[in-house]
This record gives sequence, C-alpha cells and structure tokens, in this order.
Amino acid sequence: MNSEKPALVILAAGRGTRMRSQLPKILHPLCGRPMLLHSVALARELDAERVIVVAGSESEAIEAALVGWDVEICRQSEPLGTAHAALQARSALSGHEGPVLVTNGDHPLYRAQTFRELLELFRAESCELALLTAELPDPSGYGRILRDGEGRVTSIVEERDADAGARRIREVNLGAYVARAEHLFTALDKVGDDNAKGEFYLTDLVEITRRTGGRVAAAEVGDPGEALGVNDRVQLAEAERLLRGRINRQWMERGVTLVDPEHTYIDVDCEIGPDSVLAPGAQLKRGTRVGADCRIDAGAVLEASEVGAGSWIKPHCWVEESRVGPECIVGPSAHLRPGAELGPGCRVGNYVEIKNSKLGAGTKADHLSYIGDADVGAGVTFACGAVTVNYDGRDKHRTTIGDDAFVGCNANLIAPVTIEPRAFVAAGSTITAPVPAGALGVERARQRNVEGWRERKFGPET
Ligand code: UD1
Ligand code: CA
Repeated sequence: MNSEKPALVILAAGRGTRMRSQLPKILHPLCGRPMLLHSVALARELDAERVIVVAGSESEAIEAALVGWDVEICRQSEPLGTAHAALQARSALSGHEGPVLVTNGDHPLYRAQTFRELLELFRAESCELALLTAELPDPSGYGRILRDGEGRVTSIVEERDADAGARRIREVNLGAYVARAEHLFTALDKVGDDNAKGEFYLTDLVEITRRTGGRVAAAEVGDPGEALGVNDRVQLAEAERLLRGRINRQWMERGVTLVDPEHTYIDVDCEIGPDSVLAPGAQLKRGTRVGADCRIDAGAVLEASEVGAGSWIKPHCWVEESRVGPECIVGPSAHLRPGAELGPGCRVGNYVEIKNSKLGAGTKADHLSYIGDADVGAGVTFACGAVTVNYDGRDKHRTTIGDDAFVGCNANLIAPVTIEPRAFVAAGSTITAPVPAGALGVERARQRNVEGWRERKFGPET
C-alpha cells in the first residue's frame, strides 16, 4: 500500500533572473512563507513519501529555509534546464515505486486537491505521463499544449520556439507532471538541448513518451487562479493577491469580520478567533494568534504575537514577539517589542513602548511611557511620561514594581530598583533607591515662589 504513496520533486534551481533580486526567486515570501515552502507544505498534505527539492547555486539559503521540514535536497550544479534539474533527483528516488510528481517550484498556488486529481488521473488512465494544463486568457510566457485531431496531447512547445499558430493556443503547460521513476528517468535521458534557449526542456517528455509508445493524459485545472507561475515581481504580487484572497475568505467563513478583505494581510500560519474584526490595513504576521472577539484596527501590525480574547489593538500599533492577555486595550500608536507580556485587562495607550517586561492584570500605562526590562505587578499605574531607566550605557538592569503601585508623571526609575506594593512615586522624581510598601517616594527640590518677580524683571504692566 505504502509503495503507492507519491514522491514530490520540486524544481528550484533556476536562476530566477527576471526577479532581479539577490534573494533566490524561490525564497521570496508569499503571505509570510517562502514560495518554495508552499509546495513543500502541499507535499505534507498529500502525505508524500518523499519530498525532494532540486536546488542550484543558492542551495545553502534553500537548505536554511527548509530546516524543520522533512525534505531531501539535490544539487543541480548548473541550471541547464528543467529536464536536467529533474534528472538530479534520480539517485534520491532509487527504489521509489509510487508515482513521482515533478513540479516547478515557482507555482505556489496549487491546492492539494489539484495534485490529488492529477495523481488519480495518472492511476485511472494507467498512462506513462500525466500533466496539468490550464486555458488562460493570456497564455504568454507559458509553454503551449499541442493536441492531435483526436484531442490527445502530442507535445509542448515553449513560447520562444513556437510559431505564430502555436502562440495563439491558449492551453498552457503548468509544469506539473506525474510518471513512474523508471519511465521518467529513461525518457529524461533522451532529452536534448536543440531549442531556442539551448536548454534541456522537461516539456520534451511529452513527445518522447509518445514516440516510445507511451500514453499521455492531461488534466485541466478548474480554477485558473491556481495556474500562475511566478517569474517576476509583477507575478509575485499577483500570486500574493490570489493567495491573500483565499486566506481571507477562509477566515471570513470561520466567523471573522474583515471590513475590507482586499486590504487585510494575514500570513498563512496565523490564527484568529470568531467574531474578531480586522480593519483595513491590519496585518498579522509570522504565526500571530488572535483570540475571539478582538478588534484589530487600521494599520496595526502584529508579528509572532498572541492576543487574548476580547482585546482591542487600536490603530497603528507595532506588536512583535509579544503576548497581550484577554480584554486589553493597546494603542493607538503603541509599540510592544519582543518579550512584552500584558496580563488580562491591561491598558497601554499612545506612544507607550514596552520591551521584555511583564505587566500584571489591570496595569495601565496610558500615555508616553517606556517600560523596559521590568517585572510589574497587577493594578499598577504608570502616569504620563513615567520611564524605567533600564540602560546605564553599558548594561541593562531590571525594575521591579509591586501590585497597586503608582508611578507619577515623568518619574524616572533608575534600574536596578524596586517599588514595593502600593508605593507611590511622586511625579517628576528620579528614583534610585527602593520605595517601601505603601510609602511615597519623592525626589525633587521643594518648590519656592518668588513673589513679584515678573514686575521687578519687566516693569509694571501697561
Ligand atoms: C516552464 C515550462 C513551461 C511552462 C512553465 C509553467 C520548461 C522548459 N518550460 O517554463 O512549459 O509553461 O514552466 O510555469 O520546463 N529550474 C531548475 N533548473 C533549471 C531551470 C529551471 O531547477 O535549470 C526550475 C526553476 O527554479 C523553476 C522551474 O524549474 O522553479 C521552471 O523554470 P523556469 O525557468 O521558470 O521555466 P519557465 O520558463 O517558466
Ligand atoms: Ca517559471
């Protein structure tokens, strides 16, 4: 039974010159995941027995991107064409009995179901080769599918090699093929490079299969939205748009309100609870998890963070590697840096920055504060402009603040320092020593009023 599990070969060794990028094309992100990993994730969904990525000169970067995914990497030392790339998987596939699905790594939009149907067609037709096609309104750039009088696929002709008649064909090759390893590699050995590009074309498999008496079957993708190959940044943006549309639709179906789905940006690996509302321009990145009944407002960007149920992230917040408890209110324009942890019901207002600090339940910092490297209890109030002075120019130090303490406006807490529970720090104080429980810590000069000063200075009012 297991022997019928497919192997997936993903071709990812091309130069990707049309991207004009230092980053390998295949590693450009799409909805928060490198393009290549969309194909690898699909292999998981297909329960593939093996996944083989053919990587080129950038194989180190590709290897790094694939850490944690169960994938074998084969090297193609020079990008001599897609057939040459597929050949590199030969030894990795030795002993593999199931079907082999070869796919271009620059087609990130396939659904698992489409590959399942292609594999099913291959099985049902018991053919030597099955491939995916699509009918496109604008087929330019793709290889065209040639069929004989009976509608059987006879060959694929690349655009550069196509005559005017073939160029008018709107049925295109999508670069996904199924064959048994034995047939695949025997046929690949026969591919030459006599074409406009002087490359070994995988598409020659069709003609070779036919010439050697084999049968070729083609499946057309139902949704042309799956057909897009990404060669340049215009197609990258189009792929992103299509994928975003799918992701957003899925969240709406699960009970999340997207006020303007065209302008809501949710990475593939995020989660959102029902009845949450995302405003235009909200972005959830890198596995961010938002609970139910939350409100994420315009321009709020959340990366690798968690937001508890019922919380409200107001416009223009940047939240990174942070945890926001339930029923919190954050922003507008708050900055939560890595390691910020807000307990339930906290309030963090405008121009407040929090880093590597834990705030207990119900603690508030409503305006203009910096809280860094601090352990803060529950029910603490930071008045406007209160600051933890965590850095002495060389080292970072921690500040500890007990439950229900009050830190007045523009107070500086010079760390390391402790403010005990229910203590008060007077506004404007620069605190360098502990303030005991329930005490008032005040560190400022006593006020002196100089009567009649103005008149002495400037003369009587006229
Ligand atoms: C290819 C197909 C074309 C099809 C289109 C679908 C060939 C000859 N043409 O054209 O019929 O319509 O895909 O998008 O196959 N690669 C390697 N090594 C190489 C060359 C390419 O690994 O030496 C990889 C690339 O990284 C890429 C994939 O193969 O993921 C396709 O290569 P690309 O150059 O983009 O082929 P297209 O011109 O798009
Ligand atoms: Ca391509």
